[in-house]
Amino acid sequence: MKNVVSIFAGHDSNVTFYNSKTGSYHVIELERLVKKRYFRLHVDNTPDEIVDILTQCQEIAEKYWGIENDYSAVLIVTDGWLEPELLERVFNTDHVWRYAQHHHAHAAGAFYMSPFDESLIISYDGGGDDGHFNIYTGGQNGVQLVESVESDFGGGYLLCGSTIREITEKSRNPLAIAGKLMGLCAYGSPKEEWVQSFSNIFFDRNYKKLSEETNLNFKNADAPWNNPLDNWSYEGEPAYDIAATAQEAFKRSFFDVIDKYMKQFPDLPVCITGGAGLNVLVNEEMKRRYDREIYIPPNPNDCGLSVGNLFLYTRPSKSVDVTYNGLPLLDRDKLDEYVVEREARKTTTAEIASLIKDGKIIGLVYGDSEVGPRALGNRSIVCDPSILDMKDILNSKVKFREWYRPFAPFCKKEDASTYFDSPTFDNLEYMSYAPLVKEEYKEKLPSVTHVDGSSRLQTVTEESHKGFYDLLTEFGKLSDTNVLINTSFNIRGYPILSTIEDALHVLDNTEIDYVVVEDYIFSKNVFSKGLE
Ligand SMILES: [Fe+2]
Repeated sequence: MKNVVSIFAGHDSNVTFYNSKTGSYHVIELERLVKKRYFRLHVDNTPDEIVDILTQCQEIAEKYWGIENDYSAVLIVTDGWLEPELLERVFNTDHVWRYAQHHHAHAAGAFYMSPFDESLIISYDGGGDDGHFNIYTGGQNGVQLVESVESDFGGGYLLCGSTIREITEKSRNPLAIAGKLMGLCAYGSPKEEWVQSFSNIFFDRNYKKLSEETNLNFKNADAPWNNPLDNWSYEGEPAYDIAATAQEAFKRSFFDVIDKYMKQFPDLPVCITGGAGLNVLVNEEMKRRYDREIYIPPNPNDCGLSVGNLFLYTRPSKSVDVTYNGLPLLDRDKLDEYVVEREARKTTTAEIASLIKDGKIIGLVYGDSEVGPRALGNRSIVCDPSILDMKDILNSKVKFREWYRPFAPFCKKEDASTYFDSPTFDNLEYMSYAPLVKEEYKEKLPSVTHVDGSSRLQTVTEESHKGFYDLLTEFGKLSDTNVLINTSFNIRGYPILSTIEDALHVLDNTEIDYVVVEDYIFSKNVFSKGLE
């Protein structure tokens, strides 16, 4: 087989390259290349712009991963279609194929990254060209559809969130709503009398009926999809109860649907994927409810579609890990220049740990980016969660985001049961679950303990992320609590960053104290120092 390239061109567009010489896969999430969150390649760009962006992708693939422009096929995820003529202008190939459908690609992405030879696969989200909630099995015969359940968990959840001021006010894209709703719901209480009506919206998508049944006065009840960011009509406690009820209804509806398949396939481990697979509260409940191995990939939302589409073509015979096979650091060539210009110096893991212990906030940049929406160590900001006001400093002076959004901790896998309570500590490398912080550590770890006592933990091992593991080893020598905060390294309003230039921009324009690129540490520039 020659090289293969796979493309998803809808929102969260992404391109995956298969290098036939090395057998490796590399994923470019286009939002990080063009610096526009949730970037859509197909409908928001002219043909020439599409060609230009894909040409940049090919240049990156050749320069950083040695992938020559010689492809046995270009595979398109079917609901992100691009004209073959455009693709033939960029890639040398005789075959441009509409290949897998949306959820089939999601399912394959999860299954071939999972450690399982055989698995039940649940894929659910706001919809693709083959449904909204599909059940598959994965095994030697590939990924086979079991059933498609009529529903719209992604869309229904988004609409519930759109009714709330604290969620929509600062959002620039409706796709930001779901993650914020998940954070805010901990501040309210589910109203039992509303739960059934909220559950219905995940199946009938009838927003107006929900408004009428609950006597909630939703704005734009007849046409909520025109602009979900304009729908809000509730704020404060009543809004938090709406959020909590939506989450409770989402959870119950999910288990109502999947219970049948869990019974039908009692011996199979389970993969969960699709954008709704980012709901960490449901994922945690899944672990508590079923005594079953579960795998959720780092990229369950649409940013993982091109790699899943490609797996259906290459049919890997063993598990493929693409977690840290994302976009390279695009100005890595200029590191030496930046080091001289900014008087950066070499640092050590011990020094970084010591600075963190002193309360400093540090941006870390290593190697190729992680895939998926969470920073997992290669484009991360880290600091000490035992510092009482660290959450508010990060929210107001570094990340500039809403007060209610929690920060995620990371710790060594072998230490996780000391600080956190969960049925198992497997598959926690990607922040996909919400274990509870143990009672005796809630006060010691205030910045990562959400108001409901949960925490979106990332566990690390030497294999999963050696840099983070070594940092914890050093930090553990200085601190009683060997847990750190990990939040994504980005410029305000932009995706996870991909250049040293952007990392230094954040350093000079926020309360972050240092940036470490590989083993060099950068301080704020002279002008910023004068302000200190
Ligand atoms: Fe999706």
